Amino acid sequence: MRSFITLLASTVVAKNAVPSLWDGTCFYPKPDIGFELESYLGRWYQIAGTNAPYTANCKCVFAEYKLNDNGTVYVNNNCQVGNKPVNIRGTATPANPEYGASGVFRVQFPVEIPPDCLGPNYIVQDYTGDFSLVLSNNFTTLFILSRKQHPDE
Ligand SMILES: *[C@@H]1O[C@H](CO)[C@@H](O)[C@H](O)[C@H]1NC(C)=O
Ligand SMILES: *[C@@H]1O[C@H](CO)[C@@H](O)[C@H](O)[C@H]1NC(C)=O
Repeated sequence: MRSFITLLASTVVAKNAVPSLWDGTCFYPKPDIGFELESYLGRWYQIAGTNAPYTANCKCVFAEYKLNDNGTVYVNNNCQVGNKPVNIRGTATPANPEYGASGVFRVQFPVEIPPDCLGPNYIVQDYTGDFSLVLSNNFTTLFILSRKQHPDE
């Protein structure tokens, strides 16, 4: 498991090695061509990642993805602060296909400052079925999701 994370992290750190698209304002990593939304739905545990505002002081971070009737994805991010469960719900809208045929989303939460980059902010850069590496535009955030909470066990 550790070597998998190290491999992913070094892939990303060498960011010139990750194919990306430049739209004049921001960089967008290319999504995994093997991405398939139906199999991606459900629960994912965050096993590593950069800090996001909603995960500050959080442990046991997990996300739940469900398909909405209109083709967007319902996002429910959960974690624990102390003993208290907290969550934030939002919507992931598939991005314009110019950013990738699939695996590119604009995730929006109810309270959010207007974005600097107008393209997708959730790009599934690598997807194995059991693990997923998610990047945001300009490589500013990264997280690794696992289907298992403790993949070492
Ligand atoms: C994204 O990165 C590029 C290149 O480093 C930079 O010019 C641009 O200002 C960045 N955009 C944002 C919104 O941070
Ligand atoms: C799609 O449906 C979701 C859930 O009902 C809603 O929050 C979202 O605004 C809708 N998006 C569009 C583009 O209609």
